[in-house]
Amino acid sequence: MTRTTRLSSVRVHERSVTARAPGKVNLSLHVGPREADGYHPLVTVFQAVSLVEEVTATTAADFSLEVSGPGAEHVPLDGSNLALRAARALAEHTGVKLGARLAITKGIPVAGGMAGGSADAAATLVALDALWGTALTRPELLSLAAGLGADVPFCLQGHTAVGTGRGDVLTPAMAQGEFHWAFALRAEGLSTPEVFRRFDDDARTADLPEDADTALMAALRAGDAERLGAALSNDLQPAALMLAPDLAETMDVARAAGALGVVVSGSGPTIAALARSSAHAESLADAFVASGVCASSVCASGPVPGARVVQESLG
Ligand code: C5P
Repeated sequence: MTRTTRLSSVRVHERSVTARAPGKVNLSLHVGPREADGYHPLVTVFQAVSLVEEVTATTAADFSLEVSGPGAEHVPLDGSNLALRAARALAEHTGVKLGARLAITKGIPVAGGMAGGSADAAATLVALDALWGTALTRPELLSLAAGLGADVPFCLQGHTAVGTGRGDVLTPAMAQGEFHWAFALRAEGLSTPEVFRRFDDDARTADLPEDADTALMAALRAGDAERLGAALSNDLQPAALMLAPDLAETMDVARAAGALGVVVSGSGPTIAALARSSAHAESLADAFVASGVCASSVCASGPVPGARVVQESLG
């Protein structure tokens, strides 16, 4: 989009860049005991899915933000917003003295455990890097991303990856084929720190595994949805179910409709149901809504690429 604003006799050319970044589902999520910095060590396998955030960054003297799309009214517009934090972090890192107008179109459920805010940050980083011509290297972008939140590096990277550390240390994973999902969205979100706190309250002794699950990795390599469905797991699921007991019923609906696997996505409350095909994903999504157990449902597939520029209008 290029807009030319007439200011008396001066023509100011606005330049804009649009980037998209995907949401994620954790195919497995192992959580270790809380550490001194408040974070938990994780061993997780991420899959990027085709629910995306779109961020259009337009040249401006200051930073501003507008958000549209489902759940936009729940997104903070102040300095705590991850997209604004990403913009300021990039400006500080590069010494750029410019601002930007950011327009976010949401496609990932808000506070749903699918990294919607992290995708906004990842899309903002690549949009502004292109708009400002700062041409950061991949490692620089990943390091800025990790400073913004545990899931932001994966939203940059996309595809399928094993995450360790806080979930921000990524190793790409081999995966074949396309997997089809139906997601059940809950009217009220869950707070990620609260889910982790509830996890802490449940005394646990299990050690964090050193590697991602062998069965799950083999299913991904083979592109075998049935085996992947059987291998889905999430250590945060009991905590999410304690905070949102209605999710148990939502999961039962997916099982009854023949889902290959059903799991709470990340810290929840979105429920991810793995389908046999895209048509089966549609029927799972219909079953969720027909049962009345959730607010709405949406289908998606994965894996998909990470944050990338989709349109540039450089005046
Ligand atoms: O990194 P991010 O800001 O997305 O994390 C949100 C919250 O989730 C953190 O403040 C922390 O409470 C919790 N968290 C955690 N361990 C992780 C990732 C997130 O405890 N590895």
